[in-house]
Amino acid sequence: MSSIPKAVENRGPFLERIEGGAAETTVDERLVALTAPMSAAAEQYRILLHRLRHIRSLRGDAIQGGAIVAVTSAVRGEGVSLTAANLALTAARSRDARVALVDCDLRRGGIARLFNMGARAGLAEVLTGKTEVGEALGRYHEGHLAVVAAGRAPGAESASLLAGPRFAQTLSLLRTLFDEIYLDVPPALATADAQVVAYKADGIVMVARAGETPREQVAAAVRQLSGAPVWGLVLNGVEPSRVPAPLPVVKGHLTSGK
Ligand SMILES: Nc1ncnc2c1ncn2[C@@H]1O[C@H](COP(=O)(O)OP(=O)(O)O)[C@@H](O)[C@H]1O
Ligand SMILES: [Mg+2]
Repeated sequence: MSSIPKAVENRGPFLERIEGGAAETTVDERLVALTAPMSAAAEQYRILLHRLRHIRSLRGDAIQGGAIVAVTSAVRGEGVSLTAANLALTAARSRDARVALVDCDLRRGGIARLFNMGARAGLAEVLTGKTEVGEALGRYHEGHLAVVAAGRAPGAESASLLAGPRFAQTLSLLRTLFDEIYLDVPPALATADAQVVAYKADGIVMVARAGETPREQVAAAVRQLSGAPVWGLVLNGVEPSRVPAPLPVVKGHLTSGK
């Protein structure tokens, strides 16, 4: 699996926001699922999404309500936030699922910046009892995508907050409201938070940087999450030339690409 949100044309990306008055918001151009949906990178996210949906379908009735997929990595900077956000956007664009993206990186959340959400209340405020989940949900894409930012650093230990009853209740509620819930989770080797969250998820997606993350670190991260179901590994930042370009669509038909 690879994802290559590198060569993105600059098209003034925006995302329609349906609550809070403002009609649209500018997002990070690396959210290629939105800014360059016909690119090879966006196609890779679609491949990832459909593989995850297939794994979920194999689980059948074992998952009650929406499925929770935690995206994490061995160390920081691998592209977890970007992958989780593109994955959630890809799922929401398919228009056949109600999708939530929740930033569980209470120490250094990256989702608010990607979606240009400002300083609105997020998961930290929910877990410390300062706000309700409903208040923290930013809704996009005709309501198909809901985003919860990390919020203000809670001051308390993030692992204990994530291990506490409020987080469990929040996930249960999200399962009733959404079909797919994607969690942006801090790195497994550097924090206890990753384990705490991973054990609550149905599936884990591990992100590694192509040519950078040492193999042993990825293996150590998987061991660290021992027992949690790893559904996939994303090799992020693969050279575009090493990934086949998607076939162009002409008048609704696939061509041979020549
Ligand atoms: N495939 C990629 N192509 C270009 N930039 C990327 C790619 N993946 C991640 N980045 C950039 O690298 C930095 C770290 O990515 P981020 O998603 O924040 O990582 P993490 O959440 O794992 O710490 C960000 O500036 C992000 O935009
Ligand atoms: Mg991040």
